[in-house]
Amino acid sequence: MKLRSHLAFWFSLAVIYALAVLPGLGSIHIPLPKFPRPGKHATWSAWQAPNPNTIPAGPTGDSIRYGIQLFNSTPVYAPQYTGNKLACSDCHIEGGIVPYASPMVGLPALFPMYSKRAGHVVSIEERIQECFTRSENGTPPPEKGGEMNALVAYIQWLSQPEPARQPFTGRGLIDLPALQPNPKHGARVYAEQCANCHGKEGSGHPPLIPPLWGPDSFNDGAGINDISKMARFVQHTMPQTCPGILSPQAAYDVSAYIHTKPRPKFNPAYKKY
Ligand code: HEC
Ligand code: HEC
Repeated sequence: MKLRSHLAFWFSLAVIYALAVLPGLGSIHIPLPKFPRPGKHATWSAWQAPNPNTIPAGPTGDSIRYGIQLFNSTPVYAPQYTGNKLACSDCHIEGGIVPYASPMVGLPALFPMYSKRAGHVVSIEERIQECFTRSENGTPPPEKGGEMNALVAYIQWLSQPEPARQPFTGRGLIDLPALQPNPKHGARVYAEQCANCHGKEGSGHPPLIPPLWGPDSFNDGAGINDISKMARFVQHTMPQTCPGILSPQAAYDVSAYIHTKPRPKFNPAYKKY
């Protein structure tokens, strides 16, 4: 219950801020209510999100608050580094606190770590740059710039230890068996379970509903541009209002269908990320 009320408080703050302070800035990500989350993988950990009241006043707190905005409305707050209409929270859902939806909680203690894709040890800043050049189809924000500091400050704030808090489990995505996908069946799943939100043409209604393919989506170098990885994300989190209803096979099929569609190309100049 506490987790929900903290989140409700936090997200209503974001909504109030978005409605009261930002009109005129263009598109704003207003998170939709997503509780409860039924489905066999929706196992909530005992971990509780830190209370937004604990964000300190002063420059550190300002940086954390800016990080929350950047994370939830990336194209609005970091347009110079974002090449599509996706926010971090479109994939790292609920502001990056949902187990097995690639959450941010606890990451600072794990970095620097070896990256197979990069072929070397990467810092958390470099890992964030990877999501900018690939998932955001953009350019890497400087490692020591205000945007990067804010995102890292937010992730650190989420990850701060607190005696009363239970350990967070749920890094990465759920496991699914490797299955043979059938994109034809996936087209049917898409029409029945996804098109009402993401649109027949996959362009969504950003910032409320993110695009799945086309010019405003992630590029072909993104982690989720992989049938199995997307299936693992989708089976656990989609359809957004009733996650868990797709069988693993249906999740593979719909991901394979989405992978038949066009999307931006990864810029090889950013291969280092
Ligand atoms: C289109 C979906 C998508 C978007 C948008 C996105 N990411 Fe990611 N991100 C992923 C996926 C998928 C992974 C895990 C990749 C893997 O397992 O190979 C990931 C991994 C990460 C990781 C490492 C997580 C870990 O457990 O090691 C960090 C940090 C991260 N993203 C930060 C961000 C930030 C910050 C933004 C916004 C600027 C962002 N991401 C935008 C999909 C996305
Ligand atoms: C009720 C509306 C709704 C339905 C139905 C829905 N989605 Fe989503 N989808 C969202 C929203 C909103 C997000 C952003 C994350 C969040 O806030 O939960 C999202 C995010 C995503 C993402 C990651 C971000 C991106 O744009 O790449 C993928 C992939 C995705 N959905 C696939 C699907 C698939 C496949 C289906 C059908 C099985 C589906 N969704 C059904 C609303 C929906």
